[in-house]
Amino acid sequence: MNDIDLIKLQTRCVSHEIRNHISICEMYTEILRKNLVKDNYKNQSVDNAIECIQKSLKIIGTSLLDLKSLNNLSPQNCDFKYLVEESIRLSTAYTQGKNIEINTFIKNTADIYVDDNKFLACVVNIIKNAIEAIEIKGEINIIAEVKDGFAHLRIANNGKMISKEKQKEIFNEGFTTKPTGSGLGLHICKENLNVQNAELRLNKSTRSLTEFEIIIPVIK
Ligand SMILES: Nc1ncnc2c1ncn2[C@@H]1O[C@H](COP(=O)(O)OP(=O)(O)OP(=O)(O)O)[C@@H](O)[C@H]1O
Ligand SMILES: [Mg+2]
Repeated sequence: MNDIDLIKLQTRCVSHEIRNHISICEMYTEILRKNLVKDNYKNQSVDNAIECIQKSLKIIGTSLLDLKSLNNLSPQNCDFKYLVEESIRLSTAYTQGKNIEINTFIKNTADIYVDDNKFLACVVNIIKNAIEAIEIKGEINIIAEVKDGFAHLRIANNGKMISKEKQKEIFNEGFTTKPTGSGLGLHICKENLNVQNAELRLNKSTRSLTEFEIIIPVIK
């Protein structure tokens, strides 16, 4: 067996094993949810955690399907505001242990034609980076606005800046400044957004503010 076939086989096997365990997590979160309903246990934070786990498991499942086909997109009309709120809800888990205020400003909304799980995964990657750029205490501003036929999503933080030199490299596959980073987050986002007619840019990075922006056409 040549190296490529070996990598293909290994990818299929690893994917198969991950799938098995995703389904175990899916089954148990559903059992947990049903038991809480049955016992009439009401706790917003627990409900939120269960919903986020279920959504994340769906996103992992979609990512694994990408290993089978490169054109694994299931686009549909989605509400921009809903996707922004859902991404923030999922990313909030990364703020654990830090003092980060996430301010959200959703000015208006419209439908965009995207694969919802892939779009969510991109926004989560960008918010996660914003959280990681803040050492302990800071602020993240997320501004969503529809204007002139495009939905704009700006994600800004007041953490560590990206130097002019590094700004040229951040979208390159494998570029990272983090000890445990893989340098794939922004590369994947850019590619995924490009195939969905959306654009990802770094608007600016200074000592006081680093801002990324997603721009995507809205459905007329
Ligand atoms: N909001 C941000 N503020 C400061 N630096 C950033 C920000 N977003 C990205 N970067 C820089 O860009 C680099 C690449 O980001 P990318 O998300 O691609 O990889 P990563 O976060 O290092 O690793 P991972 O693959 O786990 O996401 C980061 O290592 C960091 O140096
Ligand atoms: Mg990242």
